[in-house]
Amino acid sequence: MKKRDLITLEALSSREIFSIMKLARKLKKAPLSRKKVFRDKTLALLFQKPSNRTRISFEVAMVHLGGHVLYLNPQEIAMGTREPVKDVACVVSRYVDGIVGRVFSHQDIVSLARYSDVPVINGLSDLAHPCQALSDIFTIRERIRRLRKVTLAYVGDGNNVLNSLLMVCAKTGVSMKIATPEGYGPSREIFDEASKIAKSKRAVMEMSTDPYEAVRGSDIVYTDVWVSMGREEERDKRLRDFERFQVNERLMKAAKKNALIMHCLPAHRGEEITDVIDGKNSIVYDQAENRMHVQKAILLKILGRG
Ligand code: CP
Ligand code: NVA
Repeated sequence: MKKRDLITLEALSSREIFSIMKLARKLKKAPLSRKKVFRDKTLALLFQKPSNRTRISFEVAMVHLGGHVLYLNPQEIAMGTREPVKDVACVVSRYVDGIVGRVFSHQDIVSLARYSDVPVINGLSDLAHPCQALSDIFTIRERIRRLRKVTLAYVGDGNNVLNSLLMVCAKTGVSMKIATPEGYGPSREIFDEASKIAKSKRAVMEMSTDPYEAVRGSDIVYTDVWVSMGREEERDKRLRDFERFQVNERLMKAAKKNALIMHCLPAHRGEEITDVIDGKNSIVYDQAENRMHVQKAILLKILGRG
């Protein structure tokens, strides 16, 4: 049987996304209900970048499912410098049953999947963060059952998190209003594809450079860091370019009353967001918790075939 990877959300149909959410809901209610499924299975976490949520949620998910995890930090494997991605993929996949990769260049996760004999899951690349987006849509649905009624405003950097959000929202019928500074938009290709899919679900994807316009009438305001991992050299310029795009009390007043606040975390209070992240409408810790439940569902679908 051909192995199944999860590199970007383009690969998942709407039906599969809803099926992952359904399974995650069951698993959230009964976290230890499948504690023997992955007995004798090992998942390698091959990370080129630091992580709190992605690493811990995958590790604990795997423990709850009865399996083992090998965390391989950036120094350990040094993929691409100590040895080529191809050799890493060919060797590691002979030892383990699945790989979660966290990489700088998206091409590396594509190569990892290409050369690996076992399923590869993207735990973040410079282009996409699919597991985050799946957890986010699950979190949104916990609050607003009818996704087609939801408008999500994304304010800030058009990065990996936004690219995956676009795809998951399009496929589940959530409309999006995006505001990024000029030159910091999401992938044009992904935006166009998401707009097309959204249209078929009667949802709309809009893009502008005005954060107030984006949040007006929105049910949710989502943001992410202005300086993603690997972009540290651009920090000073980015802080200047993003100044108008902070999610703060004033901006939240322009959104719907009681609009929810989302952030994939880690957050930089005082940069992309103020202490509104600590207010009663913030659901950022639910997002973080749900990573674990949703990834269990992903692991069961991908490694366990259902
Ligand atoms: N949101 C997220 O992926 O967090 P980490 O970088 O801590 O894994
Ligand atoms: N856009 C951020 C997400 C971190 C989870 C980054 O790539 O650093």
